[in-house]
Amino acid sequence: MDPGAIVHTDNDRHQFKVHRSAYVDPEIFAAEKERIFNSSWLYVGHLSEIDQPGDFVTRRVAGRDLVLSRDSTGVMRCFLNACPHRGAKIVREKTGNARSFTCIYHAWQFNNAGKLIGLNGPETYAPDFKADPLHQLQPVPLLDEYRGLVFVNFDAGAQTLREYLAGATEFLDLIMDQSQERMVLIGGVQEYAMRANWKLLAENAVDVFHLQPLHPTYFDMIGALSGSQPSFRGLKGEAHYLGNGHTVVEMDTPAGRPIAKWMPGWGEESKASIERVYADLVRRFGEERAFRIANRNRNLVLFPNLVINDHISLTIRCTEPVAPDAMDVTVWGLAPEEEASNTVAVKRRLTSFIEFLGPGGFATPDDIEALELCQKGFANMREAPWNDVSKGMVSDTASWMDEGQMRYFWLEWQNRLLSNSKVAA
Ligand code: FES
Ligand code: FE
Repeated sequence: MDPGAIVHTDNDRHQFKVHRSAYVDPEIFAAEKERIFNSSWLYVGHLSEIDQPGDFVTRRVAGRDLVLSRDSTGVMRCFLNACPHRGAKIVREKTGNARSFTCIYHAWQFNNAGKLIGLNGPETYAPDFKADPLHQLQPVPLLDEYRGLVFVNFDAGAQTLREYLAGATEFLDLIMDQSQERMVLIGGVQEYAMRANWKLLAENAVDVFHLQPLHPTYFDMIGALSGSQPSFRGLKGEAHYLGNGHTVVEMDTPAGRPIAKWMPGWGEESKASIERVYADLVRRFGEERAFRIANRNRNLVLFPNLVINDHISLTIRCTEPVAPDAMDVTVWGLAPEEEASNTVAVKRRLTSFIEFLGPGGFATPDDIEALELCQKGFANMREAPWNDVSKGMVSDTASWMDEGQMRYFWLEWQNRLLSNSKVAA
């Protein structure tokens, strides 16, 4: 299907439609890879995963196997995880620490800066063979980080990461400023798969009005624990469009935001520690920003495929498109470094993470079910070809409870598919 015919806007009729081929068509999927994933800044890992010289993690990003590492001199590196000899994937561990990597197939050996340092039968190769750039581990074209989040870009001519993040930096700063030191990953990693198109999760992440209809079990549980059912009625929230397809909803919270309340003895007796953490935020940032950091929630989508949920837990969720109807999802928890040695606080954060967003939690199984049902519904596309994304168009002021966030995502998506390969500045 022609990418230009997928997104339909009719402001007079307050109508915004997305053709369902966007979720099922293999040609659209191929075009997304080429025109979006091959030129966007894509999340690859967190600085706290590669603190020490020799630390590495392996990741799959936009169909490529990558090694993100810190070399022995302390420089951050990211290589294609493919042997320059005859292509074998070299590093098979998910994480580790190594001075060098040796290919299983013919034992070419590379140091952790990617330089070829050893050959099986070196005398059978040309004398300058090891120095040839073709025989080194190939770095990704662009690698950069912002506030601990590490991104790659496969387009050497792309705009800088800062330019790409555009207005999203304001919200990333709010999230990372929770720590006096820096934010670090805590606990392990959650990996799961969905039989659903990757864009369904991007839409879902900034879709607030699904919360009460889809997740009653969670709210019942909160109601049972707290004695009163949390209500969204009258809650204050806003949606922001941050440039380059990034979008966020920021909101007051029905159940109370737990920042600072993770400290030991959460409850009456922990009042002092909560007040101490909050007072420190006020000292560092002033009352208004401290209140925003500590008392409001955020769901942020960094276009195209990174979601940061900053609410009852702080999580980074990254999707990897596998097929038009399939994605892999990887999720990590994040916390202030000064909390990371506090096992009570970490346990609370991780429990909250697993309880809500874990693949066996109170919310994520509902979301997986809903997104897979959408994907199943698209099988009827010939007779029922359109998704409706019009909620809120009747009003001049888009509400965070509406679908303006999703319309913004789709307009950037279409823009990118119709452009050749470069991100619009
Ligand atoms: Fe790696 Fe041959 S494929 S050494
Ligand atoms: Fe949900």
